[in-house]
Amino acid sequence: MNKALRKAIIAGNWKMNKNRKEAAELIEALKPIAADKTCGVVICVPFTNLETALNLTEGTNIEVGAENVHFEKSGAFTGEISADMLTEMGVKYVIIGHSERRQYFGETDATVCKRTMAALEAGMTVILCVGETLEERELGITEEIVAKQVKVALSKACEKCVKNVVIAYEPVWAIGTGKTATADQAEEVCAFIRKTVAGMFGQDVADGMTIQYGGSMNEKNCAELLAKENIDGGLIGGASLVAEKFGVLLEEASK
Ligand code: 13P
Repeated sequence: MNKALRKAIIAGNWKMNKNRKEAAELIEALKPIAADKTCGVVICVPFTNLETALNLTEGTNIEVGAENVHFEKSGAFTGEISADMLTEMGVKYVIIGHSERRQYFGETDATVCKRTMAALEAGMTVILCVGETLEERELGITEEIVAKQVKVALSKACEKCVKNVVIAYEPVWAIGTGKTATADQAEEVCAFIRKTVAGMFGQDVADGMTIQYGGSMNEKNCAELLAKENIDGGLIGGASLVAEKFGVLLEEASK
């Protein structure tokens, strides 16, 4: 099978947590834990912590990401940050289309597409988040919703640049709720996402793409999820804020 060919990536999404001092403490605790791990290790931190994170992770195997990016290069967009601003600092990853941004900040599939293209054109790796709400799952339209999110987000991407896209399947009902999708539920949708990508860019691109699960993934349930053929890592909220817990996820993804 192809799982062994793909890069497993564990990415932390700190969301709106940690001031600079707390960020520095967490990163210092993470460094020795991450050092011998073979999976990709990414921490996506608030904009105010990017500089701290970049300085403290220099020369380590921990990569740094932002949690959002604007689609324009510069201009009158008060409060926004461009992809060029991020890459100039040395930021390599960016989360785009997180459900919290879709839910609270008016993010749509169309703006997700624009942000994705801006980040890819700047040479960043995009962690593209997709996932259905509980209502959509109960209506039996999970696949339609996820397919639309993937297809619109990647509608302008080329076969070459899509290699810098990681997709995170995050069912909205599982985020921060303690309710994890079962490993079978997560695998089913991740496999479907891979099929959707194959339909757009070909089987080779789909087979090489890292597809993560996210949503109450933690040190206790990660082994079962990461053992699945189509789950190549995780996008981790709460458990990424505690070094020891994040370490268990890194360990499991490195096996
Ligand atoms: P939790 O792990 O806290 O459920 O958050 C998941 C998430 O939203 C990661 O982006």
